[in-house]
Amino acid sequence: IRNLALSSISATRAAADLETLRVQYLGKKGELTAVLKQMGKLAAEERPIIGQLANDVRSAVEAAIEQQSAALERQALADRLEQETVDVTIPGAHQEMGHAHPMYQVLDEIKDIFIGMGFQILDGPEVEQSDYNFTRLNTPDDHPAREWSDTFYFDNDSKALLRTQTSPMQIRAMETLPLPIRVIVPGRVYRKDEVDATHSPMFHQIEGLVVDKGITMADLKGTLNTVIRAIYGENTVTRFRPHHFPFTEPSCEMDMQCHKCGGKGCPTCKGEGWIEVLGAGMVHPKVLLGCNVDPDVYSGFAFGMGLERMAMGRFKISDLRLIFENDMRFLKQF
Ligand code: PHE
Repeated sequence: IRNLALSSISATRAAADLETLRVQYLGKKGELTAVLKQMGKLAAEERPIIGQLANDVRSAVEAAIEQQSAALERQALADRLEQETVDVTIPGAHQEMGHAHPMYQVLDEIKDIFIGMGFQILDGPEVEQSDYNFTRLNTPDDHPAREWSDTFYFDNDSKALLRTQTSPMQIRAMETLPLPIRVIVPGRVYRKDEVDATHSPMFHQIEGLVVDKGITMADLKGTLNTVIRAIYGENTVTRFRPHHFPFTEPSCEMDMQCHKCGGKGCPTCKGEGWIEVLGAGMVHPKVLLGCNVDPDVYSGFAFGMGLERMAMGRFKISDLRLIFENDMRFLKQF
């Protein structure tokens, strides 16, 4: 029994096999137990000898099982260590990092500049009432911008629409905020335009509104020059041209001198030498009055700039469609 047990124990390769052997030799129905059970049949003088022998075998088997069990455990640990070894010298797999869309990078820059000047940032509804988009912005009933061919309306009586500009937020800001007001409102606007290199039915504007005592055109020019130079560089040359918007008086457009040709005229500026960057003006007294702001005490200026256009100028992007297509080959360049 002893020899057979010891040799089969040392041959086991798994803990389960070892357990089977333990039961086979030492269990209640085991071989050694069977020998001890037959002790009663032996002569009295034989019993201590056989008993002693059986106990010796039992201890030897127990010790062998213990030893083999420890050996198997060591082997299992060694196997696992080898299997789970990490080769730290293998070069890592490249993880691609995403980043902000170039237009939102420019938006973040612009926000930072305005926040630095004490402006607050607002968000407004893209589905707007024509009251806010047009009427309360002093836009006459027969103004061409109200046409069905230009504006996305939701209903036949032309009450609800996709805002065509962020300017309705001028009204909402004056309705809800205490004076003085300094806000910018970035957001999407919608117009029935065909898609081409400079047009899209959806684009982004950043509205600006300042209302305080003693605000003049000089504040408008100073603020916008500061912003444009922060974005395009300290030496950017700008000019203000008279223009017309129903909700500002006087109104103007701001141009910056073409950085490519220095004003001489080239393909980038379509031979003009100047690139239009935004519309602006002093808030019309009728608009102030409509929001219960006394035009004899307060005055203000407002502006609206195209965000795609700012991004295109900032990164020298030639086609508006690139901004919306989400082509990774394009986006990865920024
Ligand atoms: N809302 C005008 C546009 O879309 C821009 C503008 C905003 C002009 C504020 C003056 C004041 O063209």
